[in-house]
Amino acid sequence: MKLGVCYYPEQWPETFWADDAQRMRALGLSFVRIGEFAWSRIEPEDGRYDWAWLDRAVAVLAAAGLEIVMGTPTATPPKWLIDKHPEILARGRDGNLRGFGSRRHYCFSSPVFAQMAARICEAVARRYGRHPAVTTWQTDNEYGCHDTVVSTSHAAQAGFRHWLAARYGSVAALNEAWGLAFWSQDYNDFAQIDAPFGTVTEAHPAHRLDWQRFASDEVVRFNRMQADIIREHSPGRDILHNFMGLFTDFDHHAVAADLDIAAWDSYPLGFLNQGPFTPAEKTKYLRTGHPDLAAFHHDLYRGVGRGRWWVIEQQPGPVNWAAWNPAPAAGAVRMWTWEAFAHGAEKLAYFRWRQAPTGQEAMHAGLLRPDSVEAAGAVEAAQVAAELAHIERIPDTVPASVALLFDYQSIWGTQVQPQGRDYDGLAAAMLWHGALRQLGLDVDIVPPGADLAGYRLVVMPCLLVIDSVLAATLEASGAKLLAGPRAGSKTRDFAIPAALPPDGLQRLIDLRVTRVESLPPGIIEAADDGIGHVTRWLEDIETTADIRLKLADGRGVWFGNAKIDYIAGWADPVLLDRVMRGVVAAAGLPIEDWPEHVRVRRRGSLRFAFNYGDTPIDLGDFPHLAGILPALPDIVVGSLMLPPAGVIGWLAKNPPEIADLAL
Ligand code: GAL
Repeated sequence: MKLGVCYYPEQWPETFWADDAQRMRALGLSFVRIGEFAWSRIEPEDGRYDWAWLDRAVAVLAAAGLEIVMGTPTATPPKWLIDKHPEILARGRDGNLRGFGSRRHYCFSSPVFAQMAARICEAVARRYGRHPAVTTWQTDNEYGCHDTVVSTSHAAQAGFRHWLAARYGSVAALNEAWGLAFWSQDYNDFAQIDAPFGTVTEAHPAHRLDWQRFASDEVVRFNRMQADIIREHSPGRDILHNFMGLFTDFDHHAVAADLDIAAWDSYPLGFLNQGPFTPAEKTKYLRTGHPDLAAFHHDLYRGVGRGRWWVIEQQPGPVNWAAWNPAPAAGAVRMWTWEAFAHGAEKLAYFRWRQAPTGQEAMHAGLLRPDSVEAAGAVEAAQVAAELAHIERIPDTVPASVALLFDYQSIWGTQVQPQGRDYDGLAAAMLWHGALRQLGLDVDIVPPGADLAGYRLVVMPCLLVIDSVLAATLEASGAKLLAGPRAGSKTRDFAIPAALPPDGLQRLIDLRVTRVESLPPGIIEAADDGIGHVTRWLEDIETTADIRLKLADGRGVWFGNAKIDYIAGWADPVLLDRVMRGVVAAAGLPIEDWPEHVRVRRRGSLRFAFNYGDTPIDLGDFPHLAGILPALPDIVVGSLMLPPAGVIGWLAKNPPEIADLAL
């Protein structure tokens, strides 16, 4: 894994550049991402390009031996462009124009913007596409950041109508599919259909879901346009986009289909504050981030990138954008870097090189302080670079034995119709992923269309639509299956399936959801033996299948047969652990009990453990781990004595799951 950094030469005097480049190399960094916000400096006026400064910056960085990831600057259309073509601006859900003066103010559906974005993209790609140091491209920057997938501009509404016409063919078919007999909502013409905002009470759910699908397709189209241009002018280079954490507003699998690499921007402390964690967890992990949060996204984006993924922005110190911005624990930047490596990242770049004294992000740490002195993050980055250099052979990531099916449209479905205010499909996926990791298992997070051959266990925490293709794949797979509440609860048109949920799974288990209820915070339904609870969501089930667990009131909550288990409620951590232990054992996979706050991950023959807790842990104190832990010569980094934010990596001679699979 190579390390790099995000750099903005346009923000610093040119006299700094050569020294900055040398210092990057001295820290052990080998690549640098530039350019993604530099439109106004590249094209200061309509059609007048100033390449001289960027040519020199590229030359200086290349001369230092740095590889360059060149960004297209389309996230920041400059003022002259907005003044000339104000129709480029997006409109919010309230119909108001998004103003100039920050970033991401463009509308994905604006034909003028598409033209201007293509023009600047082509100009940059022609200029640097064959430069030997430019090895990778980044399209735009963080599609959707600051809530910018949705625009209600005239262009977007027109685009939506076309999209609907293509999907349904006739407006009569749309009326039928959406179910518009309800509340006299029938349309006579596609031209009558607006964006689903500004209605008196909630807009029709099928309308909202289709709007989200359309908006997602607009992102796909915009990204593809850029990728096509770059491929034409920069043959043989990889193209990536920097996706975000905790973000599901477009279908990332669909966008990444046009990319070579999925990259993501990892800010463990910023996300802790925004993620679905308890107040106690937010305090406990204030300076390390939640132990399963970065890992969830690593596993997600490895799937999005079809195996190829990077962290292109890694938090190096306090950020500026969360409600509170604590400093990482000593060692945390190093631990996050190693964890990305353990999950299979090809490269990782820190954001950013030097803290800027001006601008919206003046309070955001860099590897260097504003006075150019190394900050703590730089010291830890250099440490990892030195440690990595000692690993003789970097193994490839092998597929895990557990797959978690993750579907963006299902997440949108739960947002359109949560039914209980705290029902959150992304949180469900994260909790299930974490529960599996806590048993020492590696997890691949894959889209519903993925090849499931080879997996021993396939889990579906929140899969609203299970079409006939997926149903057949699940049936044919040799894996043990676990489905969660709301599985197969909607058709593609967002109707309740005729045979009731779980549609698509009823060939595997005789089970019907006859009623659902959601439960407000504080209301819990206990298991009949008191071990574990259901909160938030509970289903009534009609079944001939085995009831594996009942609630205190006698209702079944966990059902199953040899092939598939179904859990009919939102399980708390205790119940979830119980269910996971059951299905993991049924799948014939090993269960390892690691100390609390410790997480493990395998990259091929290497295994790693990370201490997210705030006290030292001596792994040697846990006799039941003796058969798993390495002898001294097999340790490649760290030691059995794990300090807070500590890391150990070792050569795992006989990884149980891999050995098992080889049979
Ligand atoms: C990311 C973004 C960067 C920078 C960073 C600050 O979301 O891509 O440009 O704003 O956050 O943490």
